[in-house]
Amino acid sequence: MSGDPLVPTSEPWPGMGEARRLIANARSVFVLTGAGISAESGVPTFRDALTGLWAQFDPEELASEEAYRRQPALVWEWYLHRRELVAEARPNPAHYALVALAAQKPVTLVTQNVDGLHQRAGSQHVIELHGNLFANKWLNGCGRCDEATALPGNPPRCNLCGALMRPGVVWFGEDLPRVARFRAEHAAESADLCLVVGTSGLVYPAAGLPGLAREHGAPVIVVNPQPSVLDQTADVVLQAAAGACLPLLWPQSAG
Ligand code: OAD
Repeated sequence: MSGDPLVPTSEPWPGMGEARRLIANARSVFVLTGAGISAESGVPTFRDALTGLWAQFDPEELASEEAYRRQPALVWEWYLHRRELVAEARPNPAHYALVALAAQKPVTLVTQNVDGLHQRAGSQHVIELHGNLFANKWLNGCGRCDEATALPGNPPRCNLCGALMRPGVVWFGEDLPRVARFRAEHAAESADLCLVVGTSGLVYPAAGLPGLAREHGAPVIVVNPQPSVLDQTADVVLQAAAGACLPLLWPQSAG
């Protein structure tokens, strides 16, 4: 190693130059994001240990229909807590960088996140594979569910049939929304380049999308400060935090 560490180099992370070149040359980009892109906004990643009152729970054990049926008040309370966290959060430079990229070339932005921060930054046509934290739907509703009433400390229930209201997210064991999945797969198959940001790559089918893009000829760039299973699918791995790295990968003006 040589040089003054205080003087910025043109390649702050190994692979940066190659990533910049791939992005500049791509006609269209397929972007897959996960919880890591919102980490710098203060939203805990999905597999982070929960804090405070929630520290004793495993998020994977709260995010299922079975868990909700078993302990509706507890799971509903957890989602209200997450809604509060996300409502207080703001998009970070990584979210804004993707808005700038979409102003320069066709981008399909597919996210596993339910926090809506891409949309709040200004990204349009975001494909939400796992739903949205602020949406509600009915658990086995009667088809005419409309008004709901909540007893203190409990989730709302339909006034007509008593069905539980539930968050509009995809839980473990559930299928992805069909249209979102179809559009995401089509985009992965047809893009020139695949950029993966802040996902552990552990949850399928989302985790299979970079491999699908690669099979169809797109180079894959992974941005994640930690090693992930997707590194083996990647042509370039940038071991960097998204908010620090993405704004340096392409011009931040509309171009
Ligand atoms: P995870 O919590 O599994 O992984 C987050 C990833 O982000 C990890 O690999 C971190 O190393 C990385 N990371 C942390 N800080 C970062 C930063 N500043 N910049 C970039 N990367 C960073 O979250 P997901 O991969 O999104 O699904 O989890 C996938 C799905 O698992 C979630 O959508 C959720 C869960 O099951 C459902 O709820 C259906």
